[in-house]
Amino acid sequence: MKQSYYKKGKYCIFTYGCQMNEHDSEEIAWMLENIGYEHTDNIEDSNLIIYNTCLIRENAELKVYGKLGELKKLKRKRPDIILCLCGCMMQREEIRNIILKKYKQVDIIFGVNNIQKLPQLIDTHLQTGKTIVDIEEESRQIEESIDAKRKYSYKAFINIMYGCNNFCTYCVVPYTRGREKSREPEDIICEAEKLSKEGCKEITLLGQNVNSYGKTLNRDYNFSMLLRNLNNIDGIERIRFMTSHPKDLSDDLILTMAQCDKVCEHLHLPVQSGSNKILKAMNRNYTKEKYLSLVSKIKERIPNIALTTDIIVGFPGETEEDFEETIDLAKKCKYDSAFTFIYSVREGTKAAEMKNQVPDEIKHKRFQTLLDELYPIFNENNLKYNNKTVEVLVEEISKNNPKMLTGRTRTNKLVHFKGNKDLIGKLINVKIDTTKTFTMEGHILDNSIAGGDIFE
Ligand code: SAH
Ligand code: SF4
Ligand code: F3S
Repeated sequence: MKQSYYKKGKYCIFTYGCQMNEHDSEEIAWMLENIGYEHTDNIEDSNLIIYNTCLIRENAELKVYGKLGELKKLKRKRPDIILCLCGCMMQREEIRNIILKKYKQVDIIFGVNNIQKLPQLIDTHLQTGKTIVDIEEESRQIEESIDAKRKYSYKAFINIMYGCNNFCTYCVVPYTRGREKSREPEDIICEAEKLSKEGCKEITLLGQNVNSYGKTLNRDYNFSMLLRNLNNIDGIERIRFMTSHPKDLSDDLILTMAQCDKVCEHLHLPVQSGSNKILKAMNRNYTKEKYLSLVSKIKERIPNIALTTDIIVGFPGETEEDFEETIDLAKKCKYDSAFTFIYSVREGTKAAEMKNQVPDEIKHKRFQTLLDELYPIFNENNLKYNNKTVEVLVEEISKNNPKMLTGRTRTNKLVHFKGNKDLIGKLINVKIDTTKTFTMEGHILDNSIAGGDIFE
């Protein structure tokens, strides 16, 4: 049996996947520090190693198997290390079975719906020395007593709902995260107020489809109402959210975004494809025409808005003509940025059963064509920022250039500029000097005080 010295051990945590997983890791870190663990980035130095996994595409899954292989050696050298796996991959029984059979160095497996049990699972493992597997299929019990060890003090994620009911035919999320469940608005508002008292300036509301927020509450309350309530909190200067499903984006939400001064001029509106045939096969419940009309409505109401999206190429049955429709839509929407994906077959989803899978070679070719079309559009959007003054929330020292700081505009553009690191966490005005496809560079204005939008 292992000694019970875990109260002074060190932990490290590796996170794959989306912001939801990132935030789960922040909650896990908070719980571990509550029971006496200390954080380290050095895996060799750890007593507890956690991999928070993602299942969205095959390569996310393969990365974890690769890491587990590498860890065999470390575990042989230091068998006292506790190795835990959690996250979306662990919700699949077949995957758990593979891990239990092939990667015997794993000590604890838990899922996305019971992360609050981790301290208890560690205890049980330490007492019995056994491999523990604890998975909850039902979507997460809303646990209000857990806090999070947030990476930044000035910006924070807030979960507003868990799970997803949409069953897009390519996607594993409804199978890993369970059915949609909204948190009570009072709890969300209370969390935002607490964050604001601690100096947080920017909140990002998380949900797989924030536009359907409130549907599982026992009263008449929706996402727009939540935004309006959060907009009243002193100290919170910026409100972001992800993700919006186009099928549920209401006129009321567009109006709310336009009227709430703290709601940033950025909308992430995943389109996935521009072909009506493919959108239908994906079970997305909107057409290209409906999407385009939404986009023009939004741009009309909020002229400076930055629009970003997710696009999948090579969904089963996608022909050259279908792909052309996607390119055509992307050109019409003039996206500011996009996450682009090659369709990845996910076991258990409807699309995995479809017979007309697109050959890899064609998928890769279309992917490259899509990037070649998108990058000049991103670039052109950024050019408009030249010589303009933007409000930037200073985030950190640039990873590539220690002499520069980076921050984001309200439209979520990444800006580099020279400045003192004391500015981190502050809102300042930066004048843009040069722009590129993904970033821009500028200088701080001497009389910098936070402003609002781009000054024309
Ligand atoms: N709930 C969010 C997205 C969650 S997943 C939404 O509906 O917008 C993030 C993105 O991953 C999706 O928007 C989609 O573009 C991509 N994705 C999901 N499953 C995929 C798959 N099987 N292959 C390729 N990309 C996928
Ligand atoms: Fe997946 Fe669709 Fe749900 Fe997004 S809305 S998580 S793409 S099923
Ligand atoms: Fe991945 Fe799960 Fe998020 S599958 S993208 S970590 S919801």
